[in-house]
Amino acid sequence: MAPSPLAFQEHLPPDVLKQLRPALEAIKSSPKLFHTTYGVVNQKGGAGKTATAVTVAAIWALWGLLIRLIDSDPQMSSATYWLLQELILELTLRGMYFGECTLDQATVQTSMEGLLLVPSYENLAQVEYAQLPDTNIALRGAIADSAIPAHMSLIDCRPSLGALTASALVASDQLIIPLNPSGMDLPGLVELSKTRAVIKKRLNPGLSVAALVLTQDTGQTTLAGKIREQLAVDYPDAPRFRIPPSVRIREAPLTGEPLPTFAPRSTANGAYALLAADLLIRRVAAA
Ligand SMILES: Nc1ncnc2c1ncn2[C@@H]1O[C@H](COP(=O)(O)OP(=O)(O)O)[C@@H](O)[C@H]1O
Ligand SMILES: [Mg+2]
Repeated sequence: MAPSPLAFQEHLPPDVLKQLRPALEAIKSSPKLFHTTYGVVNQKGGAGKTATAVTVAAIWALWGLLIRLIDSDPQMSSATYWLLQELILELTLRGMYFGECTLDQATVQTSMEGLLLVPSYENLAQVEYAQLPDTNIALRGAIADSAIPAHMSLIDCRPSLGALTASALVASDQLIIPLNPSGMDLPGLVELSKTRAVIKKRLNPGLSVAALVLTQDTGQTTLAGKIREQLAVDYPDAPRFRIPPSVRIREAPLTGEPLPTFAPRSTANGAYALLAADLLIRRVAAA
């Protein structure tokens, strides 16, 4: 698929575009300097992790970056199913954990130019109880050792806080936390904050939250209001983004196409383009 100029012009306000162009140039000219691993995490299912990881990855790829999306969810409705449909591959993220292949050997090209995927199937769940040595640091080491010149990596986490998610949090430089305010609960938020604090303290002191992504936020309920208040307390410095409810997001995984090519003009794609641009602009500004 050819990169579409639509992704730039139609969705982004001129001031964002003005900052995005030089940021993209900077990233393209020094991939090693700017490479960042974003963990897309929330232990709640249905938060919008997979939608966010696949869509941001695809938008970045359309903008000419080489992106590696790592599927760290053994569940069937994952990024792998979305992007590969029925195609089953032998080398997967599970193989990397079990020492059967390298991360690079498990990295495949998707139908979208610039978008690479490390697929996973149900057997990835074996990592949770196999008690392999060094599970915590395996993914971080594998990304560091990779010879694929990816500009950015994204990890789509599973909806639980076990060994796989711990490993993803250690491998991440920054977190993207999608939340569905009407599907989240306050104890869930507390649990997420605690896990992040433990990993940050023991294993990954540099871990920061790059964005909170409120998906399907209709903003009406008392609970959604409480969740937003609590987020301001838990993540005072994290930029927040709102992705409107979108039927197109629900449809896209069935077609095998990411949202930016399936429904480039949808408001949800526009909202994700803003998030995707902001992450890159801030990444370059922080260097
Ligand atoms: N903005 C949105 N509008 C409508 N449906 C959405 C939106 N974001 C995600 N969904 C849908 O909600 C469900 C859960 O999203 P998903 O990304 O799979 O969550 P997670 O990976 O956190 O479990 C999926 O069916 C997905 O298509
Ligand atoms: Mg998911």
